[in-house]
Amino acid sequence: MFNKICIIGIGLMGGSIARAARERGLCSNIVAFGRQSGIKNLQLAKELGVVDHYYVDIEAALTDADCVIICTPVGAMEQVFKQLKPFWNDKTLYTDVGSTKASVIASAEAIFGKVPANFIPAHPIAGAEKSGVSASTADLYFNKRLILTPVESNSEELLNKLSIFWQKIGSVVSIMSVSHHDAVLAATSHLPHILAFSLVDLLGRKDEKEEIFKYAAGGFKDFTRIASSDPTMWLDICMANKQELIPLIQQLKVGLGEIEQMLVDDNSQPLFETFTYAKQARQRFLNQYDNAMSQIINFNIQPGGSLRGEIRVPGDKSMSHRSIMLGSLAEGVTHVKGFLNAEDALATLAAFRAMGVEIEGPVKGNVTIHGVGKQGLKEPKEPLYLGNSGTSMRLLSGLLAGQKFNTVLTGDKSLSSRPMKRVTAPLATMGAKIETEADGTAPLRITGTDQLKAIDYVMPMASAQVKSCILLAGMYAEGKTTVVEPAPTRDHTERMLNGFGYPVQREGAKASIAADGKLTATDIDVPSDISSAAFFLVGASIAPDSDVTLNHVGINPTRTGIIDILRLMGANIEVMNERSVGGEPVADLRVRSSQLKGIDIPEALVPLAIDEFPVLFVAAACAEGKTTLTGAKELRVKECDRIQVMADGLQTLGVDATATEDGMIIQGKVVDSIGGGEVDSHDDHRIAMSFSIAGLRATAPITVLDCENVNTSFPEFRDLSTKLGLKLT
Ligand code: S3P
Repeated sequence: MFNKICIIGIGLMGGSIARAARERGLCSNIVAFGRQSGIKNLQLAKELGVVDHYYVDIEAALTDADCVIICTPVGAMEQVFKQLKPFWNDKTLYTDVGSTKASVIASAEAIFGKVPANFIPAHPIAGAEKSGVSASTADLYFNKRLILTPVESNSEELLNKLSIFWQKIGSVVSIMSVSHHDAVLAATSHLPHILAFSLVDLLGRKDEKEEIFKYAAGGFKDFTRIASSDPTMWLDICMANKQELIPLIQQLKVGLGEIEQMLVDDNSQPLFETFTYAKQARQRFLNQYDNAMSQIINFNIQPGGSLRGEIRVPGDKSMSHRSIMLGSLAEGVTHVKGFLNAEDALATLAAFRAMGVEIEGPVKGNVTIHGVGKQGLKEPKEPLYLGNSGTSMRLLSGLLAGQKFNTVLTGDKSLSSRPMKRVTAPLATMGAKIETEADGTAPLRITGTDQLKAIDYVMPMASAQVKSCILLAGMYAEGKTTVVEPAPTRDHTERMLNGFGYPVQREGAKASIAADGKLTATDIDVPSDISSAAFFLVGASIAPDSDVTLNHVGINPTRTGIIDILRLMGANIEVMNERSVGGEPVADLRVRSSQLKGIDIPEALVPLAIDEFPVLFVAAACAEGKTTLTGAKELRVKECDRIQVMADGLQTLGVDATATEDGMIIQGKVVDSIGGGEVDSHDDHRIAMSFSIAGLRATAPITVLDCENVNTSFPEFRDLSTKLGLKLT
C-alpha cells in the first residue's frame, strides 16, 4: 500500500504497527524518527528488525515517505506537528495513534490553523502493560478495534486508504466523531485506569502496615492489571481528556456513596439489584463485544457429494422466542426444553433478563424462567438491543406498548432497516405511543401506557409477527382485540398462549384475545425448527445418492409449506412417527434424492414456507423445467431483499434466475445445474446456508462471503451439514 512508512516515536505502539505492516506486506520500507536522547531505542528498533532505518534528522526521515504515523504521547503532539510543518507534503498520508482525539485536533489546529486534509486522526484500542519497542508484536492490533475520527477537512480518499491499511493489519475499523470518541474512551478506558491506579495506591499505602498485598487473590490481580500501565502515558492521557473524565469521576463518587449508604442501612435488596444489574450488563457487553469482534467467516464449498445420515437440527426459533416471552409473563416457573441457543432467541432472552426476569440457561437446550406475572416486568435501564431479530422487535413492540414503563428497542443494521410501521400503525390505533425514525424503522421508542383499547384489525399482509404483536398488545387492552389474517400464518403464539392457560379464541382467519386472562407456568418442549431442517430437505433431494433422516421436527401445518412444495416438485419425503408434543405436532422426516421438476408454486403455500424460499430457489435451479413463484413480495423485506439477493447470487453461479416484483422465475437444469463462484450472504443467515447447499450440485467450488450470521438461527449448521456430507470448510 505504501512505499515508505515513517513512524515518529517507535515504542510499543509504533513498533507493533511496523511489525504488522511488514508481516502483511503493506509497505516496502519502514523508518523511524526519534530524538537524539532516544537514540538507544532507535538502535534497538533497527537491531530487532522492526525498522529498516532510523533517523534523528526529521527531513531525512520524511524524504519519500508516503505515510507518516505519529506514535508519540498525546502531550507531545503539538511539538511533533511543529517539526513536521516545514516538510509537510500534500501527497503523504499523516495519521496518529493518540488515545484522546480532541487534544490531538487542538494541537494540529494550533500549528496549521486547521487540521490538514491529509492528517487523519486515528486510535487503535490496543495496548499492553509492557512498553517499549522490545515489547512490540505484529499481532497487537489483530482483532482489536481501531477508531478513525475524521474531521470535515479530511480527504475521503485518504480516509478510505487508512481504513483499508488498518483492516489489513487485522483491526476492526469504526468511524466516530471526535467528541463521541473522547466521551466513550473516558468511560471505558480512562476512568477504569484511574480507578485501578487509585485503588492500588490506596491499598499499597495501607500494605506498608497491614500486609494486604500478601493475601490479595485473583480478583485483586484482575482488577488492578491496568495499574501496571505506563504512568507517564496515562498522566498524559488523563490530562488531555480531563473534561470528559471529571464528570465521570463525580458520577462514580455518587454511585459509591449510594453503595456506602446501602451498607450503612443494611439495605440488601438495592445492593443485590445493583450487583445483579452489573453482572447482566457485563455479560451483555461481552456478548456484544464477541459479536462485533467476530472475524469474518466465509464458507467454501467443494462441489458435489451426497447427504447421508440421521440428525436432529436445533430448536424452533419462533417457539423459542415465544417461550421466553410467555414464560416471563406467567405466574410460576416454566421449564423449556429444546430451546434454540442462537443469537436471535438469545436476544429475546437478554431483553427479558434486562426487564428483571430471572432466567437460567440455556444449558443444553434447557431454560428455566422464573415468571414475574403479567404486570411484573420492570423498566430496563438501557435500550433493549435485539440484534438481527425481527420477531423479537415486532412481538416486543406489542407487548411493551401496554406496560407502565418506557422502553427503546434497537437492532443491528439489517433490523434497523426493516419496516416497523406494520406494527406501530395498528398499535397506534390501540392508543400506543411509539416513535420510529422518519421512515418507520427502528429504534422504536415506546412510551408505556395502561390505556390501550382493543381493536378489530384486518391485516394487510400475511404476517405472524404482526398478528402476534397485536395479540400480545391485546393482553393489555380494554375490550376484545381481534386480528384477521389474509392467509394462514404460523400460529405458535395462539397455541402457546393456550398452553399457558390464556384464552385465545380462534375462528377461521380470526383470532381474539382480551386482557382478563392470566398465564400459568408450564413446561415447553420446543421441536426442531423445520426452517433449519429445510436446508437438508432440499440438500438431500438435489444431491444424488442421498438419504437423510431429520428427527423431532415441528410439522405445525402453518409451517409445512416446504414439504408440500417439494413434494409437488417430485421430492421423496416421508413423514414418520407423527406425534404431538406440548400442543405442537412433531415428526421424523426421511428424505431421499429425486429428480425434481419445475412447478408454479401455489400462492396459498407462500406464507406457509415464507422462510424457506432462498433454499427452494436452489431446488428450482436443479429441477427440470421452469419454476415460478408469485405472491411473495414479503420476501423483499426479510433480513435482506431475498428475491433480489438470491436472483443476483444464482445468476453469478450461472443459473437462469429472474427476479420479479413479487417472486422469481427460475429455469432449472438437470445437468450442470449450478456453476461455481463467489456470492455474498448480504447479512442474511438463510442466504448463507442456501448458497452453501447449492454446492451439492455445483460444477466448481462456491465461496459464500460473510457467513457468521448463521449464528442467528443455526450455529450448528457447519458441523451438521459436514457430518451429513457437505464439503464445507
Ligand atoms: C416469524 C414470522 C415470519 C417469519 C419469521 C418468524 C415469527 O415473519 O418470516 O422468520 O416467529 O412470527 P413475518 O411475520 O414477517 O412473515
